Amino acid sequence: MTKRVRKAVLPVAGLGTRVLPGAKTTPKNLLNVVDRPILSYVVEEARAAGIEHFVFVTGRGQGAIEDYFDANPEIENALEAKGKLDILAEVRRDLMQPGQMSFVRQMAPLGLGHAVWCARDVIGDEPFAVMLPDMLMAADTPALAQAVAAYEQVGGNIIVVEPVPEGEAHKYGIVALNGRDGRLTRMTGMVEKPAPGTEPSNLFISGRYILQPEIFGTLETQARGAGGEIQLTDAMASLMERQAFHALEYEGTTYDCGDKLGLLRANVAFALRRPELADDARAAIRALL
Ligand code: G1P
Repeated sequence: MTKRVRKAVLPVAGLGTRVLPGAKTTPKNLLNVVDRPILSYVVEEARAAGIEHFVFVTGRGQGAIEDYFDANPEIENALEAKGKLDILAEVRRDLMQPGQMSFVRQMAPLGLGHAVWCARDVIGDEPFAVMLPDMLMAADTPALAQAVAAYEQVGGNIIVVEPVPEGEAHKYGIVALNGRDGRLTRMTGMVEKPAPGTEPSNLFISGRYILQPEIFGTLETQARGAGGEIQLTDAMASLMERQAFHALEYEGTTYDCGDKLGLLRANVAFALRRPELADDARAAIRALL
């Protein structure tokens, strides 16, 4: 029996350099895709996978994230008084239950591995999910639910991957596999930001993970890697000497919202996925083209 995955770590401390100045006063993961912040979609994806507790790893100036998931009586009462109950329901959809979210602070941008390590005390001794909120995933079965299903099948650690666009492998973590076993394959290695031409496969780590708590011990002493940062990929690679890792090629499409064009594509794609908006969105896009 595998232990259930109940908690998710969401590293949100990045500066959002590629989406400035929009991310100057609004945390980048609160930028909108259609009418909801990026984090709203990610939390919805997590809930669909059974996540009950959210650990946000924040940096300075990101208090708005906490407020977003809290009640706002002023807005809610005003909507109620005006009878705008449909909007009220949309506003309330993202509310957290009391005690369902924790915030830990990453004081300096030392890397993704360091950010995840900051959550160690809140996670404790159980398997957990890591979700990189920049990476918005559109899928019929939400991406994290696909990862949890894979975890229930094989246990250990699961890394969601997908084919890397031509010439972009050096920007990501790339997994090494010995052959393929359908969509879920035991891994043999992984490398963060390989030099062009040295990538061990065409599958990149796309931002959803199920990890065992032993990763925290590995992260504790993890040396700096690519970009001078403490890399989660390096810690996973060393944990792999003792624990199984499987790569799951998920079914869906990823949009990198940390980037102008990715954010634009996500806006278009998510508008087209909304039944009540799709026709108007299509007409508006056609008119622009
Ligand atoms: C991080 C991870 C990398 C992964 C990527 C996905 O890199 O370290 O393995 O492929 O996210 O977006 P970053 O984007 O922080 O450089």
